[in-house]
Amino acid sequence: MKTVLTESPIEAAEFIKRNGIVAFPTETVYGLGANVFDEKAIAKIFVAKQRPNDNPLIAHVGNVEQINRLVKEITPNAQKFIEAFFPAPLTLVLPKAENVLLIATANLETIGVRMPRNELAQEFLKNCETPLVAPSANLSGKPSPTDWQAVYEDLNGRIDCILQGETTEIGLESTVVDCTSPIPLVLRSGAISLEDLRLIIPETELYQIKKDEIVRSPGLKHRHYSPFAKVRLVQDSRFKIQDSRFKIQDSRFKAFIGLKKPEIEFDLIKICGSVEEYAHEVFAFFRECDRKNIEIIYCETVEEKGIGAALMDRLSRAAAE
Ligand code: TXA
Ligand code: MG
Repeated sequence: MKTVLTESPIEAAEFIKRNGIVAFPTETVYGLGANVFDEKAIAKIFVAKQRPNDNPLIAHVGNVEQINRLVKEITPNAQKFIEAFFPAPLTLVLPKAENVLLIATANLETIGVRMPRNELAQEFLKNCETPLVAPSANLSGKPSPTDWQAVYEDLNGRIDCILQGETTEIGLESTVVDCTSPIPLVLRSGAISLEDLRLIIPETELYQIKKDEIVRSPGLKHRHYSPFAKVRLVQDSRFKIQDSRFKIQDSRFKAFIGLKKPEIEFDLIKICGSVEEYAHEVFAFFRECDRKNIEIIYCETVEEKGIGAALMDRLSRAAAE
């Protein structure tokens, strides 16, 4: 399949109308979109990404009214979050409407809904004239793409079109909140932090997987955000390595990303000026490490507040074996 590159949201939307799949920028990461009501196009997403079919997709809307076509009910909690935040890097899980296809929700009776605030995404959604399901536009398991070149690297020849926008503003995926029960549960942390959500609904909780429980957000159990290189977390640039199996004297080709310049030499190094910049750069850095055959990436840990919680979540998953 030839993958068309375009900067035109009108041209990109034509592919959606002809049952195609199109990668597009959002404020979080690039998504791979298909018409939410087009079963064949949705099936193509799973093939293109090599995505396990038990991992549900997020529906993206261009306006709040479209949410009503996708859900049985906007629960009172969801209504509050919508009013406070939308459009935003925030996905709300709600009971799905009957006409929403089970292939989109991986057989769940709920659907995640999000209204991106990125202008090009909004323009594209408007031209599509339908909500789009869109997972991140990477091969399954790889770091999410934060620029169109990363999408191209993973999916050229596998999808119909890439809508070329800027590098994404945030760099980590949206916060996912289950709003189906009275206490909202954060299933995945993101730029809208637990603290932000609690300003609106103080009871909001972080979802913790209990042993033997069925995972509420199936995507969480799959391997994620992983470069080929091993990822190790270090507490600060003096390198108190959390994992005693690895020593920093390691002779392997190694990289470092963090906030403080370490005292020893690395083959590739990225120092970020803030936690926000770290979040913005981390996935692109993982990809750069892979292109340069780095064998081990040391990532400095950060405080788990604000976007730091989302960053630590992604780093821990990348470091998990
Ligand atoms: O920022 C984002 O959310 C990006 C951009 C493209 O919008 N999309 C994204 O999609 O990250 P994806 O498919 O890579 O991640 C979706 C996450 C998965 O962890 C999935 O399990 C969870 O959201 N999810 C989706 N629908 C769900 C549902 N009905 N119930 C629970 N979790 C759900
Ligand atoms: Mg993803």
